[in-house]
Amino acid sequence: MFEGSEPRSTRPIISHVTALKQHANHGHLILAAQDTKAVGTIAATLLMKLLPQHGDPVVALPTGSTPIDMYKEIALKALELPRDHSHHPARWITFNLDEYDGLQYNDPQSYHAFMQEHFFGPNHTAADRNFFPDPKAPKAYDTLIRSYGGIDVLVAGIGVNESPHIAFQEKGSSFEGRTSLVKLSASTIQANARFFEGRPECVPTHAASMGLRTIQDARNILILASGEHKARSVYEALTLPPSTDRPASCLQGHHSVTWIVCPKIAAYLSAHGVEL
Ligand code: GLP
Repeated sequence: MFEGSEPRSTRPIISHVTALKQHANHGHLILAAQDTKAVGTIAATLLMKLLPQHGDPVVALPTGSTPIDMYKEIALKALELPRDHSHHPARWITFNLDEYDGLQYNDPQSYHAFMQEHFFGPNHTAADRNFFPDPKAPKAYDTLIRSYGGIDVLVAGIGVNESPHIAFQEKGSSFEGRTSLVKLSASTIQANARFFEGRPECVPTHAASMGLRTIQDARNILILASGEHKARSVYEALTLPPSTDRPASCLQGHHSVTWIVCPKIAAYLSAHGVEL
């Protein structure tokens, strides 16, 4: 799955992987990283391996603490590529998964600002190739994505308060939903208050978020999960019957999903009968 049309390399495609197993139930690949940093390193490596060989890659990108190591690794890999190489991040067409409603783009807590710090700035991207869902016109996002030929690779983290959620699609979100303005649950506001000086009243109440159908339409999906507190959610998303109680379980029907998990999550999965 990861070789694409490149000649097979004699070097291992992925280092830092302690276990690699095709999940028996859904054909999902689960990679157990040797530590939390390796979750990011592996994600960057796989993401770049999955990019199409021709044309400008279309990539959907997440925010959050989990993908920060992935962005560091992408920036390092970019240094080895000519800027006009189609795999150079400056050539990617990017679609972020979500953005808060009501924050200015230059607000330090906005996802625009996060991406500027971790991806746009380090890779010197051009703003006209980097998109976010507009809370004032979220429906236009899917049309825009389609106009670029759809998403080649989508990377997402997992939110775990109440349910395993993706982007801001929380418990109860339709598996057929498109990009929309969503109301954040009280628990998500509480969880994200850590980025707002611990003050939940400063967290926006709404956000524009890619829909679960939009996410499932991506050709390849990478899910990153780090931290023991996410173990149960990952387990449920992978093994319990798909249900809107568990938004990430919508991925069970997708043909190309790779989960990259930290050792503690891997140990939990293993202890609960998921072969690794
Ligand atoms: C929020 C974001 C999600 C992200 C999640 C986990 O809910 N909307 O896209 O995956 O947080 O973030 P972290 O990686 O910081 O745990």
